[in-house]
Amino acid sequence: MSQYRPLAAVVLAAGEGTRMRSETPKVLHPLCGRPMLLHVVDSLARLPLERIVVVVGHGAERVTKVLQDQLVTEVPVEFVEQRVQLGTGDAVSVALMSAAFDDLDMEDDVLVLPGDTPLLRAETIARLATEHRLQDAAATVLTARLADPTGYGRVVRDKDDRVARIVEHADADGDELAIDEVNTSIYCFRRNLLVPSLRRLRPENAQGEYYLTDAIEVLRAAGHKVVAVASDDPAEAVGVNDRAQLAAAEAELRRRINGHWMRAGVTMVDPEHTYVDATVELEPDVRLLPGTVLEGRTSVGAGSVVGPGCHLVDAVVGERSVVTYAVVRDAEIGDDCSVGPFAYLRPGTRLADGVKVGTYVEVKNSEIGEGTKVPHLSYVGDAEIGAGANLGASTITANYDGTRKHRTRIGDGAHTGVHTSLVAPVEVGDGAETGAGSVVTRDVPPGQHVRGVPARVARPAREDGDGDGGGAR
Ligand code: UD1
Ligand code: CA
Repeated sequence: MSQYRPLAAVVLAAGEGTRMRSETPKVLHPLCGRPMLLHVVDSLARLPLERIVVVVGHGAERVTKVLQDQLVTEVPVEFVEQRVQLGTGDAVSVALMSAAFDDLDMEDDVLVLPGDTPLLRAETIARLATEHRLQDAAATVLTARLADPTGYGRVVRDKDDRVARIVEHADADGDELAIDEVNTSIYCFRRNLLVPSLRRLRPENAQGEYYLTDAIEVLRAAGHKVVAVASDDPAEAVGVNDRAQLAAAEAELRRRINGHWMRAGVTMVDPEHTYVDATVELEPDVRLLPGTVLEGRTSVGAGSVVGPGCHLVDAVVGERSVVTYAVVRDAEIGDDCSVGPFAYLRPGTRLADGVKVGTYVEVKNSEIGEGTKVPHLSYVGDAEIGAGANLGASTITANYDGTRKHRTRIGDGAHTGVHTSLVAPVEVGDGAETGAGSVVTRDVPPGQHVRGVPARVARPAREDGDGDGGGAR
């Protein structure tokens, strides 16, 4: 085996990504909740690297900030700016000539990856680097055979079946377009051989750019060894240039994530219609029903059932709870709770164990105590509700007086009658009760029962005989 040569990596992320037609730099478009570039750098960061150098350009500040905020790694990461995007060859030049490489040995190997291959696995990068060393190559390219190679650079082999050069789709002739072996844009180079070959690149091609791919032909012409490593899984090679490729790559990533959780003991009745972000945590015996979307830092405890039709963002669900047709955002649901159908839990909601939030109920910035039930048609905002309470249908906290929000307190074991309006700030004591149609504007002492003053609005019987009056009954 050849001796170990330390590895640095260059990630190309300066391009605009014109084909996305987006205000957002291409590499920041998310797949399963994580920006495309982060997926690439996450894989890299799992390898023992000296350094990761990210070439930024288009949207440089945004790209740098997202990476700094969301990347967790021991590997030092540096940013180099490519001010004008003159092509992938120029981007690598800019990186290698920057201060980021000043203190690294010229004899080292350098990995080069594009920022738009989110499905690439750490194992594949490691295999590429290992093969590169074993073969003592000047350059090693990861290639893939694709059923539809449209748009990719094609790998042209010589009569001895060795890699001769790479030709871009836009520059390829008929025979070359028929080649199904493509360049994945993932390479390992000997740095001291790559640097001089980059100086030989010329932008004489269909796109008028300095192509990194041309360095292969330059190295071959100088008598150096170029090796191709075929990818085991062509899906890994997918480069995302437009929204259709983004959707296809995300679908593949979703299959991987779902496969991981199913192997870990999660039931997905229909994995094709279950959407779990890369950042979500699930416990064994969770059951996810179709149309469930779990995003951000959501976690679901053992034995809970979520779905059908649920959208949970940064939500914490305890154990054995059931959440059906619900939207939950930045909220906590305890153990043995029942939420929905058709419930909306907004930020700051905390349900203790055994709480029921039923049909057409919205809860915001409120704590609901153990075993309390809010079964139907209610709005609970800015409230603290004790344990064992029951809110009758259509209980509403009038928490907003037009200028300020006020809090409502409801004690343990309190009951509110149907159509109770709680005009905050107000408190309903432990064990107190309100009658149907109550408009509660003053505190109700513990244990006291207040009757509503339901207005019976009489109206004349209509000619069709419908004489039923309104109001509460
Ligand atoms: C590139 C390869 C092609 C390969 C394909 C695989 C070249 C010339 N072509 O084509 O052979 O099959 O990837 O997906 O390399 N970038 C910069 N600065 C630049 C230009 C690009 O940083 O000046 C970055 C982009 O942000 C992107 C990456 O380099 O992340 C690749 O550029 P892109 O334009 O997507 O190249 P492709 O046309 O896909
Ligand atoms: Ca690309």
